[in-house]
Amino acid sequence: MRRVGVEALTASAVALALIVGGSALVEAGASGTGSDGVGDPFFAQAGNGGYDVQHYDLTMSWDPGRARLDATAVIDVLATQDLDQLDLDLRGFNVTSVVVAGNAARFSRLGQELVIKPARRVLSRQAFTIKVVYSGTPGPVIDPDGSSEGWMPTSNGIVALGEPQGSPAWFPSNDHPTDKATFELTMTVPNNLVVVSNGLPDPPNRQSQRTTYRWHEDDPMATYLATVSIGNLTMSTTKTRSGLPVISAVTPSLANASAPSIARIPEMVDWLSTLYGVYPFDSIGAIVVDAPDVGYELETQSRPTFTTAPDDSLMVHELAHQWVGNSVSLTSWPEIWLNEGFAGYTEWLWSEHDKGRTADALFHDAYDNTPADDPFWKTPPLGLPDASELFSDVVYTRGAMTLHALRLRVGDAAFFKILRTWTTDNRNGNVTTAQFIALAERVSGLKLNDFFKSWLDTSSKPSL
Ligand code: TRP
Ligand code: ZN
Repeated sequence: MRRVGVEALTASAVALALIVGGSALVEAGASGTGSDGVGDPFFAQAGNGGYDVQHYDLTMSWDPGRARLDATAVIDVLATQDLDQLDLDLRGFNVTSVVVAGNAARFSRLGQELVIKPARRVLSRQAFTIKVVYSGTPGPVIDPDGSSEGWMPTSNGIVALGEPQGSPAWFPSNDHPTDKATFELTMTVPNNLVVVSNGLPDPPNRQSQRTTYRWHEDDPMATYLATVSIGNLTMSTTKTRSGLPVISAVTPSLANASAPSIARIPEMVDWLSTLYGVYPFDSIGAIVVDAPDVGYELETQSRPTFTTAPDDSLMVHELAHQWVGNSVSLTSWPEIWLNEGFAGYTEWLWSEHDKGRTADALFHDAYDNTPADDPFWKTPPLGLPDASELFSDVVYTRGAMTLHALRLRVGDAAFFKILRTWTTDNRNGNVTTAQFIALAERVSGLKLNDFFKSWLDTSSKPSL
């Protein structure tokens, strides 16, 4: 769901769909082909044009012996143009049927595109559903930086992670952060396995051989933040002081090592709320699986996933992303410093809060010890050459340094007001760096364009 205007559109779009009833009388004029990408500079094929997803209802069963996923996706969509053809992103699988607005549709595959030709033209503003039935053995997606995402093995099951382009490895989607939607996942597995996902669970439904789990995320979520872990996992539930459910799932071999940071989740969420405002979702918790080859953690919405045992700093990083990255989302991947710079800086703030080194000391560690001729300064956060640099050190460290330098420039009162206004004004939205600069200028009353240019978009070490 796109924030601007969509809520206002929904009711009238439903009415319109009823009145017009799929009649092909209305002439579209221009092409009725939804584009095969949303134009992201780093991922030409990511996402699709012509519609806006409202909700994903995913029903799956996983057979670990045959490594086989059988799945049905029912996707509620709002057309943003007339459509004779539209795409979803899907990687691999055998697709057995696609139904659009109740009618069987023709479809074909082209790379990561599932190209769909509805039996009848879909009209702009029409609300409709796309049902995709598919099955097969899901696999990983290898990224430009060589890392794996998508559907991956753990020591006792699987984990699905999707940043930046792995979600189509397990469900058909409009795979770009500009199209957020609510989710539900119904997953059936053999009785010895546990399923954990985003949001809140329903009670599992246990039959003689197999158990069905259902999880639902009722706040808008970018596709890359959807996750599932299946395996031998131990669930635990507690609450924060304000009553937010804290639901975690941990693989037994990492239970001891991850217990201390998991125990601090309620305290961390309360502290983060003082920084960024009310927690944006219905639940929180952590998923800890044993998959060290993955090599990173992910801020999967409402329940970050760790592939090794987290320490406090990593935990606070992924919890911070719930505000900066998940509730407040990117508009395009090259601006990823808006996620990682903020989560990285929050680690420094936590260190200071938790009686470790101050944010200022951590800033100076990085700034003072990186001389001007160090290659680190060559590529600024907004100058990433391509997607292979998305998670490079500059994104995290120069991003965090940018925020600390801003704090030094505008003072603590204005700085923390900027942070808090950013996350509260843009809750459930999508943002750009230009918007952040405008906000910082508005709150501080200072002209900051040159400041941000030197930190974010200049190939040399900024002066203080
Ligand atoms: N967003 C993750 C974090 O900072 C990191 C991450 C996601 C990542 N996907 C990746 C890092 C791929 C390297 C490669 O918490
Ligand atoms: Zn991060």
